[in-house]
Parts: sequence; structure tokens; C-alpha cells
Amino acid sequence: METLHPDVKEVLFSEEDIRAIVSRMGKEISRDYADKNPLIVAVLRGAVVFTADLMRAISCPLSIDFMAVSSYGEAAKSSGVVRIVKDLDTKIEGRNVLIVEDILDSGLTLSYLIELLKGRGPASVEVAAFLVKDVEGNRPAIDPRYVGTHVPDEFIVGYGLDYAERYRNLPYIGILKPEVYSK
Ligand code: XMP
Ligand code: MG
Repeated sequence: METLHPDVKEVLFSEEDIRAIVSRMGKEISRDYADKNPLIVAVLRGAVVFTADLMRAISCPLSIDFMAVSSYGEAAKSSGVVRIVKDLDTKIEGRNVLIVEDILDSGLTLSYLIELLKGRGPASVEVAAFLVKDVEGNRPAIDPRYVGTHVPDEFIVGYGLDYAERYRNLPYIGILKPEVYSK
């Protein structure tokens, strides 16, 4: 059993839980993309850990590229403003693109990315989100084709997810203690 970080209030998904979720998603994607040679687009930086696991759970041929967007800065709430920090190196015309994201909250980041990539003439654009945040009365702007699991409307860290660039290396998904980000 991993030791709990003192800034984490509660573990939502253990390493073992995560493995089971990723394995299930990998099977779904392998089946759907068996003959499509998808281009996996990992959204830096948060999705790096999930992408590394997910791509090894996918059995069909694939390629991978990275995009970096910035939406939050170091604040805890989405501003709705998305900035492309690093673009793809791959031409996506005619390709089946699968965007891999760590967490979907308002969906603003992803809806912006989807529109941007669709403008480049890919055969398809779908989304695999490891987490979807359940926010009361709020419907995300997009509907991901693949969803790992849901989390409550709290600040989530670990498994790639950060607060002010910390906690990304925690091997589990946890809830950050509110006193850490309200200070
Ligand atoms: P939107 O609202 O655009 O936000 O769907 C998606 C992006 O915001 C980040 N995000 C979080 N990051 N813990 C984090 O570490 C969270 O609880 C959280 N909620 C949203 C995330 O980077 C995602 O790409
Ligand atoms: Mg992110």
C-alpha cells in the first residue's frame, strides 16, 4: 500500500484501480481502431502518465504526438482561455486522431482542441478522457468517446494531475486538501 501524501485528503483510485480502468479502455480502443492506425495526441503535461499506460494497453498499431495547451496557469479554476504552447509535429490530414486527456471539467479546453484539429482535415477526431469531473448543474461542452471514470467536483491530483506543478508523480488519484490551494 502506498503511503498517503500529507496534502491529500483521500485516495479515490489506487494504482490497482487505475490499472483495471486503463486496461478496459485499451481493449475498447484496440477493438475500435484495429485497422485505423490512430494518431494518439497526448495533451501535455497532465495526460503524460495516463498516455504512457494507455498506449501500452492498446494492441493495434498506432503513432503518438504531443500538444501542450495552457488553460489554468497556476490557478485552480478554468479561465476558458486556451493557449497552444506546443503544436503537433505530425500532419493529421486523413488520420484518425485520438486525443488523450487527463481530466475533463468544463470541456472548454477539449472543445477548443477538437475544433482546431478538425480544421486540418483528419478522418476522425475522438477523445479518451481518463477522468470526468461531475459538476452539479454543469454539462461539459464535449462528450468523450472513451471515459475512464468519474470524480467529484474537488481538486484532483496525482497520476499526472497537478496543483501548481506538484503531485503529478503520485501513483494514485486523490483529492487535494482544500487548505492547500485556498492559502
Ligand atoms: P476544462 O474545464 O477546460 O479543464 O475541461 C480541463 C483542464 O483543466 C485541468 N483540470 C484539472 N487539473 N486537477 C488538475 O490537476 C483538477 O481537478 C482539474 N480540473 C481541471 C486539466 O489540466 C485539464 O486539462
Ligand atoms: Mg491538462
